[in-house]
Amino acid sequence: DKGNHRHFMEKEIHEQPEVISHTLAHYLDFGAGVSKPLDLPFDFAKLDRLSISACGTAYLSGVIGKYWFERLARLPVDIDIASEFRYREMPIVKNSAAFFVSQSGETADTLASLRYCRKAGVPIGAVVNVRESTIARESDVILPTLAGPEIGVASTKAFTCQLSVLASLAVRAGVARGTISPEREKVLVRELSEAPRYANQVLKLDQQIEKLARELSSYKHVLYLGRDTNYPLAMEGALKLKEISYIHAEGYAAGELKHGPIALIDENMPVIVIAPHDRIFEKTVSNMQEVAARGGKVILITDKKGAEQASLQTMETIVLPDMPEIITPIVYALPIQMLAYYTAVFMGTDVDQPRNLAKSVTVE
Ligand code: F6R
Repeated sequence: DKGNHRHFMEKEIHEQPEVISHTLAHYLDFGAGVSKPLDLPFDFAKLDRLSISACGTAYLSGVIGKYWFERLARLPVDIDIASEFRYREMPIVKNSAAFFVSQSGETADTLASLRYCRKAGVPIGAVVNVRESTIARESDVILPTLAGPEIGVASTKAFTCQLSVLASLAVRAGVARGTISPEREKVLVRELSEAPRYANQVLKLDQQIEKLARELSSYKHVLYLGRDTNYPLAMEGALKLKEISYIHAEGYAAGELKHGPIALIDENMPVIVIAPHDRIFEKTVSNMQEVAARGGKVILITDKKGAEQASLQTMETIVLPDMPEIITPIVYALPIQMLAYYTAVFMGTDVDQPRNLAKSVTVE
């Protein structure tokens, strides 16, 4: 049931404040300001390496997870596309664990990667939305996303719930490994608990984003740029756009611009830059200037501080509230989903059932 929404995708985008909140509450005790103990088949404190594999949007949540685990818990992470992982004959590191991220829990390549690790005796955690799935069943521990059923083929709420799980686990790992003090844990838990409120505020930008989408729908190519966790988010923005609007889009690390893609820049290819005002904001600003200097059109997704300091002529600037760094990947996922959604609606594509795509990819 779509309720009063035109498409399941729209409904699922709007459900995010609620399901993110449910998911976080499963892993974090907001009142006490701590991450909840988990019954894991390994000890975060004793791990030398964590390996994550997944496909598509779930893979991109894993890339963001890597940034979190490495930064917050000083835990090295390998992140792989499952269809590569299963065949690349990765040597298994002692004292390692493996996570598999999947909404459906049935993705063939992800399952095959899980079985490769199982055979090698690696403890396995499954970040899944469907608890009765094969991937859940074959894992040692189920780390559920509490997104509820996701009907739209393009993943939205499952993605932000995957991020919510991975961020919570990274905090838990940091506490176990002694890289996060009890005071810092309290702050991080509070910051994470604020994600649903910010997500709600971002949903109110729908009219501005819808207007921008009308304009965007007349272009054939789009480039998405970001640094740090906004880099995988740029790839996710591009993936959403190509999946449902069929506009050709690429997501790049902003620093890679001058190593190739800058050759593509002209007035026919808008560049969407995801850049909250963070440590490396200035670096991303200089990338935007490079785009502008070549006649490229910039669409900037930033916060109040970023909008003030970018001092750049943009095609459009979407201003999100200032928010804690740890929740930016979760909250900034919404405007890119909304932009893809409204663009597809303008183009008249089948938003919930895009051509050639299946919700659950059970064959390789
Ligand atoms: C993108 C999308 C796909 C899935 C991928 C993995 O919007 O939905 O890229 O993320 O097929 O599916 P799951 O998560 O079910 O393993």
